[in-house]
Amino acid sequence: MSEILKIAHRGARGYEPENTLKAFQKALDLHADGIELDVHLSSDSHIIVIHDETIDRTTNGKGFVNTLSLQQLKALRIENELQIPTLTEVFDLVNQQCFINIELKGQGTANAVAALIELYVSEKNWNYNSFLVSSFEWDFLQQIVLLNPKIPIGVLTETDIDSAITFAKSIKAKAIHPDFNLLNKENAIQIQEKGFHIFPWTINEKEDIAKIKTYNVNGIISDFPDRI
Ligand code: G3P
Ligand code: CA
Repeated sequence: MSEILKIAHRGARGYEPENTLKAFQKALDLHADGIELDVHLSSDSHIIVIHDETIDRTTNGKGFVNTLSLQQLKALRIENELQIPTLTEVFDLVNQQCFINIELKGQGTANAVAALIELYVSEKNWNYNSFLVSSFEWDFLQQIVLLNPKIPIGVLTETDIDSAITFAKSIKAKAIHPDFNLLNKENAIQIQEKGFHIFPWTINEKEDIAKIKTYNVNGIISDFPDRI
C-alpha cells in the first residue's frame, strides 16, 4: 500500500481554532502533507479563510463575510487573540512546506483563487501541485477549469459518488473527496480504476481511520492529522 497523505482539516482543528494561522502552523508542526481550508470573499474582494458565510460562530462579531471589508474582518478576534487570515497570509506561512487544499465556499471565489494561484506559480515559482481546489459547488470547479486547466481539482460530494465520478471525468479532475460515510471497498476501487485519487473527509476516530485505510485511499482529511 502506498503512503496515505495526512491532510489537516481547517488546519489541525482538533488542536487549535479552525482556519487560523495558528492551526495551520500546528498542522506544519505535525508534519501534515496537506492542509484543508475554506474561503469566502470580503466586500472589497479579498480572499478570506473562514468556513461559514457569517462571522458569528468563530469570531466576536456578527454579520456576513461578504458584507464586511478586509479592515473590518481584521478587527475581529477569534478566541480573544487570533485574526481571520487571508489566503495570501496562509500561502506565505505554508511556503510550499505542504500542499494547500482550498475549498471554494463563497460566490466569486473561483476567479479570485485561480488568479492568486497563477500569481504564486508565475511570480514565486510555486508548482501547481502545491494546490488542490475543491468545492461542493461544482459550477465553481467548472469555472476554475475554464480559467486555468492546470489547477488540480478535487470534486467534493456528500451525497453521490457515481455523479461525482461522472463530473470528475468531464472536467478531468485529479481527485474525488467523498464524505467518508459514502465510501466502501467497491466504490473506492471504482474511483481508482477511473484514475482519480480519493481524499475522504472528515475522519477523526481511530477505528474509522483504520477502516478507511483498508480502502487504499490516497489521503485522509482529519482534524487530527497525527492520527492518520
Ligand atoms: O473538504 C472537506 C470538508 O472540509 C468539507 O466539509 O463543512 O468541513 O467544509 P466542511
Ligand atoms: Ca472545508
